Amino acid sequence: RLVPVIICGGAGTRLWPVSREAFPKPLMRLEDGQSLLQKTFLRACRLPGVSEIMIVTNRETYFLAKDDCRETGVDDVTVGFVLEPVARNTAPAIGAAALAVRERHGDDATMLVLPADHLIHDLDAFEAAVARAAQAAQAGRIVTFGIAPTRPETGYGYIEVDAPIASAAIHDVSRFVEKPSADIAEMYVHGRKHLWNAGMFCFRPDVILDALDTHASAVSGPIAQAVARAARAQSDDGYSIELDPMSFKHAENVSIDYAVMERASNVAVVPCDIGWSDIGSWQAISELTKPDTAGNRVQGAVSLHDVENCFIRGETRMIGALGIHDLIIVDTPDALLVASRDRAEDVKQIVARLKTDG
Ligand code: GDD
Ligand code: MG
Repeated sequence: RLVPVIICGGAGTRLWPVSREAFPKPLMRLEDGQSLLQKTFLRACRLPGVSEIMIVTNRETYFLAKDDCRETGVDDVTVGFVLEPVARNTAPAIGAAALAVRERHGDDATMLVLPADHLIHDLDAFEAAVARAAQAAQAGRIVTFGIAPTRPETGYGYIEVDAPIASAAIHDVSRFVEKPSADIAEMYVHGRKHLWNAGMFCFRPDVILDALDTHASAVSGPIAQAVARAARAQSDDGYSIELDPMSFKHAENVSIDYAVMERASNVAVVPCDIGWSDIGSWQAISELTKPDTAGNRVQGAVSLHDVENCFIRGETRMIGALGIHDLIIVDTPDALLVASRDRAEDVKQIVARLKTDG
């Protein structure tokens, strides 16, 4: 049995002011009106044999996430929620999900962890990659999905394989390096032995729980207690498991990449060409919109005069722009971003500054 587990959280600080802790990036609506969570949900529903989807999210975003799923119109899939009282990053989120999957379906189930912050264009290729991954997962491997790198991105994990990369194969991973420095990323991209980690994972619950026990006991202890003491509720179309706050808050705040992928020896990778793109920054969002002849991409009511190469996104107010170029402008009812286009990656610095300044 294949159980997709969608992880929906994180602050997404490069997408400020739309993405916030109380409104994480996966809930953000794209130009076509769908949220990244809805897209991920539909992608998971489309996989063969899926009858239940588990979503791990903060309890503050429970209703928003639930509404998003309901709005897709899918009604033949059980939608379960594992609710976090506080954000503790992906290792605790995935570990808690593994305990919930084990509780519901036993250790023979195959979990497919899907982050809700990227797009996949080739759904048939995705389905084929998942089938290959599921097979290896059943054999006891922790399976990652590898994307051929196109630039020395420092925000991704890099997966090193020994043999020449063949797309139809499953490779042993000789090393996993999360978010390398720019120099090292540059080397990896040129060396042709590395793939980007797509952030999706496939494994049996017992396999990931063993790995967390071995490599991240500061995660596995608290999450076991948080699930044992969770508040459970059942409804017509699904269930919720609200993790015990007093236990879960003690889980170490660490991503699955640092906690497990960099350390475990049974990691495998399915190289895949699935039209993957990460929606991490305003630059990436802007690329989803067709530019006009002056290179401007706009969303909402925007009036442009002598404007070039700008991305402008409005919500409720009318925006007028005159004589500007290469800017990112994102308006929301209570906060406005104005940034130079080449600084899209640094928007997170604004959030960090706002936090320290109170
Ligand atoms: N439920 C829950 N709780 N979900 C979370 C939490 C949390 O505390 N923190 C993050 N997430 C979700 C995010 O919504 C996102 O869908 C996913 O987990 C990954 O988190 P990010 O914070 O976006 O990670 P990243 O982008 O820095 O790095 C990961 O993804 C890259 C590819 O996009 C890593 O897996 C990298 O190795 C990978 O290359
Ligand atoms: Mg991400």
